[in-house]
Amino acid sequence: MASLPTATYHWQRLPIAMDQDAPQLWICTLQAPVVEVAGNKWLKLHSALQQRKPGQGLLSFGGAFSNHLVALAAAGQHYHFPTIGLVRTEQLDTHNPTLRRCRELGMQLIALDRISYRQQQQPEFLARLKITYPDYLILPEGGSDLAGAEGVAQLPLLQTPDGDADLLCCATASGGTLAGLIQRYPEVRCLGLPVVKDTSLADRIKQCLPPTSSYQNWQLAEANSAYGKVNAELVAFCCQLKLHYQLTTEPIYTGKALQLLSQLLQTGSLSGVKRIAFFHTGGLQGLHGLYYRRLLTEAQYRLLLT
Ligand SMILES: Cc1ncc(COP(=O)(O)O)c(C=O)c1O
Repeated sequence: MASLPTATYHWQRLPIAMDQDAPQLWICTLQAPVVEVAGNKWLKLHSALQQRKPGQGLLSFGGAFSNHLVALAAAGQHYHFPTIGLVRTEQLDTHNPTLRRCRELGMQLIALDRISYRQQQQPEFLARLKITYPDYLILPEGGSDLAGAEGVAQLPLLQTPDGDADLLCCATASGGTLAGLIQRYPEVRCLGLPVVKDTSLADRIKQCLPPTSSYQNWQLAEANSAYGKVNAELVAFCCQLKLHYQLTTEPIYTGKALQLLSQLLQTGSLSGVKRIAFFHTGGLQGLHGLYYRRLLTEAQYRLLLT
């Protein structure tokens, strides 16, 4: 495939830490040439879109509300290649807005029970998949692998409109996004804000970095809740970001990560930092699924969506 168009970036300063010594907090939002391949997905899918041979499709894995699967389906529709999503679910729910959107975008969906889903990294499982779908390139869950991280390494997150940042951060789940920042800026401190409680997360990040590398510039904050856990305080935090700063977030990734960052700032855990650049990784399609599951009221959904 010919080279892809480049994304544009929008910066916004967020005055969430008000005292004078507090660091500046800059949010970097990516505007993708294909709107639904939003946030980190535009970067993570970059290598796969370029590696794909003519006629070849892309197959990947995701949960029932996966941002990654919607982004992959949208890329398939835009660039005219077939896509398959293996979904972690017992049964495909036809009313689920994320799965519905994937189907509208032409993705073939296949349900995988939890036990089979967990085998996705195992060589025998992958070998069988390759035999069943010989015309598809297989991408891991979340698009997090070496190639996905290399795509993220294109992100110019260091240079805020007010000068270079001394701390780079983002929501972290499968690790590819943080791995991209770590390798792009080996001299700058990178902080993963986990939105999952996963003791293997550090290892997953290392797997997205070149095997011979030994980057020392990164750390993970301690997660404050399990993946997908959304409570009233977190939703209220996202609504405040929207009402006060016109910043649109969702509570599974960006809202949760910013809430954790604001707690770290309040407890003084980031002393010495002068300027933070936070990558807004997208994920706003997830708002439909949150409303569908009644985790947002109609008023919250409308506020966050607009
Ligand atoms: C919107 C959004 N933000 C952040 C992440 C976390 O990125 P990573 O899985 O690369 O850690 C994801 C998940 O893949 C996501 O969908």
